[in-house]
Amino acid sequence: MKKIISLTSEQTLDLGRQIGQAIISPFAIALKGDLGSGKTTLVQGLAKGLGIGDDYYITSPTYTIINEYPAMKIRLCHLDLYRLGSADELEYIGFDDLAGPDAVIVVEWPGFLEEMQFKFDLEIKFEFDADYNRIISLFPSGQTGINLVSKLFL
Ligand SMILES: Nc1ncnc2c1ncn2[C@@H]1O[C@H](COP(=O)(O)OP(=O)(O)OP(=O)(O)O)[C@@H](O)[C@H]1O
Ligand SMILES: [Mg+2]
Repeated sequence: MKKIISLTSEQTLDLGRQIGQAIISPFAIALKGDLGSGKTTLVQGLAKGLGIGDDYYITSPTYTIINEYPAMKIRLCHLDLYRLGSADELEYIGFDDLAGPDAVIVVEWPGFLEEMQFKFDLEIKFEFDADYNRIISLFPSGQTGINLVSKLFL
């Protein structure tokens, strides 16, 4: 497990950018942590690292549930399941169609997917410290996740 303390949103963006630069698809990331802890901010950096152009502004998929962004060799699928009512609704939102060799799947509030034993390569946990800095912990799982984390300059 690797842990960093992020004092500013720029530092969180930079971590996301590094992850995006190092990722090889297919890859799946679970983002966990309280409201406003920095999950969407990290995805904005990730999109930059993946080469997604500035003409796409990465917004929170709180209401849309899924936002999809194309890049050169990958597709960033950014999900926020906060408003999902049950695991059954995953089928309704088309989750099963997202997978593919080019997919980078990033999920905020991944609880229902974890219940279904969906396999994430990396879990990123966001916590606040007493000064509202973000403590960001990376938990890779399996060889794909471990390889990714080993490429980061933390
Ligand atoms: N170190 C930091 N890392 C990330 N965000 C920070 C940091 N410091 C301040 N912020 C601010 O905190 C907010 C984080 O919001 P963000 O939308 O990324 O949270 P979230 O975890 O996606 O929340 P939600 O669960 O509601 O989707 C942003 O306004 C960001 O600018
Ligand atoms: Mg968010």
